[in-house]
Amino acid sequence: MSTPVSITGQTRIVGIFGDPIVHTRSPAMQNAAFRALHLPYAYVPFHVRPADLANAVQAIRAYNLLGVNVTVPHKERIVRYLDDLSAEAKLCGAVNTVVNREGVLFGDNTDGRGFLASLQERGLSPQGRNVVIIGAGGSTRAVLVSLIRAGSTRITIANRTVAKARALVRAYRTLGDTQLETVSLNRLEDPILFSNAALVVNCTSVGLHGEAFPPLAFHATPRACLFYDLLYRPEQTSFLRQARAARRSTVDGRRMLLHQGALAFSLWTGQPAPLQDMTRALNRALRTA
Ligand code: ATR
Repeated sequence: MSTPVSITGQTRIVGIFGDPIVHTRSPAMQNAAFRALHLPYAYVPFHVRPADLANAVQAIRAYNLLGVNVTVPHKERIVRYLDDLSAEAKLCGAVNTVVNREGVLFGDNTDGRGFLASLQERGLSPQGRNVVIIGAGGSTRAVLVSLIRAGSTRITIANRTVAKARALVRAYRTLGDTQLETVSLNRLEDPILFSNAALVVNCTSVGLHGEAFPPLAFHATPRACLFYDLLYRPEQTSFLRQARAARRSTVDGRRMLLHQGALAFSLWTGQPAPLQDMTRALNRALRTA
């Protein structure tokens, strides 16, 4: 357990709203950042049940919180209670960060930008690239919007329920010049699907409990293809294990978790985030979970 931030009369609180919330690693990461930069802020978890969300948002103003992060299951529903939204938050219909601007609550979504930052640190620019996304839930939305805005050429969305993938294509067809297509999960066995892929992203929850990933033609991807699993535990999902066995590069969801948090930190503080301190704290928190 790391030392807590010191609380004084000048401390301002940042929170995270979720239900459940006991598993969150964000307090470790954000408090490490506040400590590293000697900022008078403290980050605390708030267990907010769905029926209490409106009151909890009101409390951001009442307690003059600096802001909050928002996690499952509130990311979509909190939108209606906020005063202003960023372009990403509007496009995704979801908010993961709220900034309290003197009582005016601004909702942003740093998930997609965090995802792009984690690609950038691996030297991958999605512009002009072909991507395969597996999954069509809430996290896919942020990834998809960010890749379209970054100028990907073609994105194939594979999902168990193909109708959900089609709904995403309908929603974002006109957002950019990216060609969007949908396929069923069994098409993941087809080598042709991957012949020009620069990036394959798992946005499903398959692997969270150690389950095997559906059959996928890992070896059919170009050697430089990056396999990205949004899950951050277990570190080695079946998806990432198989990608490594095929000698492809991999990234797990800790990098997106880190960068979405770093961007939120900058929104609240106006300062660049101390990435190394946050990385260390996040890894420590995940190890001791
Ligand atoms: P998140 O917000 O993390 O994206 P979600 O919205 O619940 O979570 O989406 C979960 C994703 O994992 C969905 O794409 C889901 O597929 P369906 O749309 O068909 O439900 C996918 N998923 C979950 N369990 C799965 C399984 N056993 N096999 C294949 N896909 C699965």
